[in-house]
Amino acid sequence: MKYYSTNRQAEPASLEAAVIKGLAPDRGLYMPERISVLPADFYENIGTLSFHQIANRVATAFFGEDLPAEVVREIVNDTLSFDVPLVPVSERIYSLELFHGPTLAFKDVGARFMARLLGYFVQRRGDRDVNVLVATSGDTGSAVANGFLGVAGIRVFVLYPKGKVSEIQEKQFTTLGQNITALEVDGTFDDCQALVKAAFSDKELNEKLLLTSANSINVARFLPQAFYYFQAYAQLKRLGRAENVVVSVPSGNFGNLTAGLFAKRMGLPVSRFVAANNRNDVVYEYLQTGAYRPRPSVATIANAMDVGDPSNFARILDLYHHSHAAIAADISGATYTDEQIAQTMRAVYEQRGYLLDPHGACGYRALEENLRPDETGIFLETAHPAKFVGTVEAIVGEQVTIPERLRRFMQGERRSIPMSSRFADWKRYLLSIDK
Ligand SMILES: Cc1ncc(COP(=O)(O)O)c(C=O)c1O
Repeated sequence: MKYYSTNRQAEPASLEAAVIKGLAPDRGLYMPERISVLPADFYENIGTLSFHQIANRVATAFFGEDLPAEVVREIVNDTLSFDVPLVPVSERIYSLELFHGPTLAFKDVGARFMARLLGYFVQRRGDRDVNVLVATSGDTGSAVANGFLGVAGIRVFVLYPKGKVSEIQEKQFTTLGQNITALEVDGTFDDCQALVKAAFSDKELNEKLLLTSANSINVARFLPQAFYYFQAYAQLKRLGRAENVVVSVPSGNFGNLTAGLFAKRMGLPVSRFVAANNRNDVVYEYLQTGAYRPRPSVATIANAMDVGDPSNFARILDLYHHSHAAIAADISGATYTDEQIAQTMRAVYEQRGYLLDPHGACGYRALEENLRPDETGIFLETAHPAKFVGTVEAIVGEQVTIPERLRRFMQGERRSIPMSSRFADWKRYLLSIDK
């Protein structure tokens, strides 16, 4: 299957080229040229299938033309080494817990899948190593580094701003060793991102090294996120609650929501989606008015959603042929201040005994406010609350238990290379890695 660019100025690419390039040459985002509707009997029987069986069926619809069936199966099964349980929080609202993977966030699914698929392509090509460059403000670095750990033929370079990520986050990508190198940049997250972008547009570097990125614009990272929407539906089906399903998605760059919209296009019976935002509300505003006005992000306690110009919005526009009416028919919006997020976390903890993280709290609240009496709601709980331990403890006034697998990272030895924010230094470093 070919992948076209949302900007339509670049040649359609093969799956392999789309995964290795990440972004299309015309700066657009790759989209699969077809989205297959899965047969009715799949949906009838979905409650009897395992997560691996469901994800294999979905992955085959996307990648089956380009990869041998056993490769798809192996990558899917290896990626999904953990479950995504659906946990009741109130009578009609369920939490889809996406934090049971190695780094306790939903990104584990996409990052692990992409690492394995890229590893397969690199081995098949049998030529140069691929160098994955990733700038992180905290969470992406850990999911990508852990997802790619030990994958042959791939080296990962994580650039993070000195003193601006939490200790837990830093430990998750600086203690791994092997094919993962962490670079501590004397600057901001924007400086890190600028260094990565500059490397992709430097002629000499691209002649000498095969460079790629692993952020959520990559089709191999965002399409696999559709798997867990199907698995959520299967769990509701087993509970006899699969009528009028509404899914609320805490959104920043809108990759997660876009994957859900793909699932709906494949026939998954979700009646509608809610895009739950913090105060960064450009998409909320678009849904209300039809005008899309990107602006600089503002800092909030749900910081992974502090995005002022969400990159995957281009995919949503493309999917709905730029029709505001069609988009607004499938997605409604919600936007919350830090006070509302904190108040929701406190209330749900006190009244329901369920500890939300600040991102999931936006998703929960949007359902509580929007769900109609005949609907069942699922919100995506995108990260474990312990990843935001300081914020969460200050809000709920109790100590948060740190899960063992998060604690294990804390015991490793932190190793990173200091780096200035000057491109010349970064370039010199990259040119030295092959010597
Ligand atoms: C914990 C958490 N929740 C929600 C989001 C937003 O997801 P998306 O960027 O796919 O909209 C992110 C993204 O970084 C995240 O880390």
